Parts: sequence; C-alpha cells; structure tokens
Amino acid sequence: MHWGPNTEPDTQAFVRRAIADQSSKPRTRYEFAITVKASGELIGGCGIEATRPERKEGVIFYSLNKAHWGKGYGTESARALVDFGFARLALHRIFALCDPSNIGSNHVLNKAGMTLEGRQREDFLMRGKWRDTMVYAILEREWSSTGQLLGGLSPSN
Ligand SMILES: CC(C)(COP(=O)(O)OP(=O)(O)OC[C@H]1O[C@@H](n2cnc3c(N)ncnc32)[C@H](O)[C@@H]1OP(=O)(O)O)[C@@H](O)C(=O)NCCC(=O)NCCS
Repeated sequence: MHWGPNTEPDTQAFVRRAIADQSSKPRTRYEFAITVKASGELIGGCGIEATRPERKEGVIFYSLNKAHWGKGYGTESARALVDFGFARLALHRIFALCDPSNIGSNHVLNKAGMTLEGRQREDFLMRGKWRDTMVYAILEREWSSTGQLLGGLSPSN
C-alpha cells in the first residue's frame, strides 16, 4: 500500500496482491493492518518490502486514516516496521521515501531513528507536476545499538 488504495478496482488489486504475497517464496513483501489495541478498530495500513533482497535492503511505507493522525500511531508503526525488518527479515538497510511537504511523515521517519540521506530532485511526477523525494534510511548496526526489541507486528501467514 503505497498511495492508496482509492478506487474499488484499486482495492481489489491491493487485496489480491497482499494475499499473493503471503505465499510467495521467498517472501519479499509484508502488508500489515494498523488497529487500535483497545478497540480493534482498523485505522490504517503499513508494510515493508525487501526491494533488493540480494543487498538485504528494504523499504517501509504506512498510511493512516486522517481521523487518527497526530496520536503517535505513525511513529509506532514505522518503529515496528524497522524492528520487523531487522529482527525478522535480517535486513542490513531499511529506507523510506517521502514528499518534502509531508511534515508528518518526515517527523515520523526521524522519530523511527532514520537519517535523512538526501533529496532526489524531481524524480516523481504527480498530477502533472514533478516532485522531489526525501530519502531516509537506517542501518542494522544503528538499530541494534539502540537496543530496540521487536515491535507488535505479527504476520499470521
Ligand atoms: C504521515 C502519517 C503516517 C503521520 O502519522 P501520525 O500518526 O499522524 O504521526 P505521529 O502522530 O506519530 O507524529 C509524529 C510527529 O510528527 C508530528 N506531525 C504529524 N503530522 C504533522 C503535521 N501535519 N504537521 C506538523 N507536524 C506533524 C507530530 O506532532 C509528531 O511530533 P512530536 O512527536 O514532536 O509531537 C499520517 O499523516 C498519514 O497517514 N498520512 C497520509 C499517508 C502518508 O503520507 N504516508 C506516508 C507516505 S511517505
């Protein structure tokens, strides 16, 4: 789930892909639901993909229902994804991409312990306008030195 899903066909394709991911071997992509612990309410989704498994590199992504922004769930999700990527997938490097104007996401990536590595200029065409992309990343040794433990991510299958 990178930028959506939006339309019904988008949603169907997203669900089909998430289901197919579960049985792909080797598995390189995990989609997670973000729920409120107390109520079980579904408030968003997040995921991690080993983009270049041979280099042990992966990317994280997340999206929350607007009604639940600013409550710390984005930060909690990003941290859990980073934990999952290093502890479970044995990655060496995890990165994330975000729009420079997305203040919330830039904050989230900082708070997940990631370092801003740079800004790719006009690498993304959105609604007819070229956009820059911020690149954040964290290495396994940086993560392990913080003593983080595996977060609450549990892929049931
Ligand atoms: C980006 C997103 C995940 C942030 O999630 P969130 O749960 O609101 O983030 P948090 O509550 O963990 O906030 C983290 C920090 O960013 C700050 N922040 C969040 N949104 C902000 C905003 N719009 N403007 C300024 N600061 C913001 C919070 O105050 C917090 O800072 P603090 O710890 O110093 O108080 C959420 O806005 C979202 O789902 N957006 C749409 C999808 C998206 O952009 N995904 C990311 C693609 S790269």
